[in-house]
Amino acid sequence: MKSVSSNIELKRLTGIKAADLIHSGMTVGIGTGSTVAFFIEELGRRMKQGLEIKATATSYQSRILCQQAGIPLVDASFLDKLDIAVDGADEIDPGLNAIKGGGAAHTMEKVIASMADRFILIADETKLVPRLLTSFPLPVEVMPGALSLARKRIAALGGEANIRMAVRKDGPVISENGNFILDISFGSIPDDLKELDLLLKDIPGLVETGLFLGMAEMAIIGCKNEVRTIYPAI
Ligand code: A5P
Repeated sequence: MKSVSSNIELKRLTGIKAADLIHSGMTVGIGTGSTVAFFIEELGRRMKQGLEIKATATSYQSRILCQQAGIPLVDASFLDKLDIAVDGADEIDPGLNAIKGGGAAHTMEKVIASMADRFILIADETKLVPRLLTSFPLPVEVMPGALSLARKRIAALGGEANIRMAVRKDGPVISENGNFILDISFGSIPDDLKELDLLLKDIPGLVETGLFLGMAEMAIIGCKNEVRTIYPAI
């Protein structure tokens, strides 16, 4: 669904900059993706210099990286509050609304972002768009038994839902919750994304959408000449 090899240097600088937000004593939510991987690496480096944190991670990818970096992990099941969560994004609009789920981890990403006092997006500048859904289809997680129902209901909302296929496995991507990921393209972008989110979540068996609306307090963006911090435009 996405190219993880592009803009690696911008992602690295962004991940390192985001680690400045983390201080000893914090419980940190850790997102998923190639930008977050650099954030984890930097936290691991700082922990060797005395930083003391606990973390909870949104995916196996991030749990493995945290373990390698020496970051102690807490099971999210036993948490309802985090000091901060830091995560990547697939598209970010000027209001810092985001599309996520390129890595099929958006359900747990939304749970962890919702626990956090501060939710921070980190991305390279290619993720900034004037309007969401301009270039990235909307990922939704759907229980296998709800596949046909979900596709029919999504079609009635004007969307075409494609089952995300695995690359080094035959058949569909299976999420860490045992579900399918559908990537929805819209012929014309719906005006009211909040309403779209509610309508999608009203489909039985549709677990979560990749729409992160009004959740991020700020974004750290790797641009060609600098790493910029941006806030939601009003
Ligand atoms: C994971 O499901 C996604 O939401 C990622 O956070 C998003 O795809 C960002 O990925 P990169 O940092 O690799 O671009």
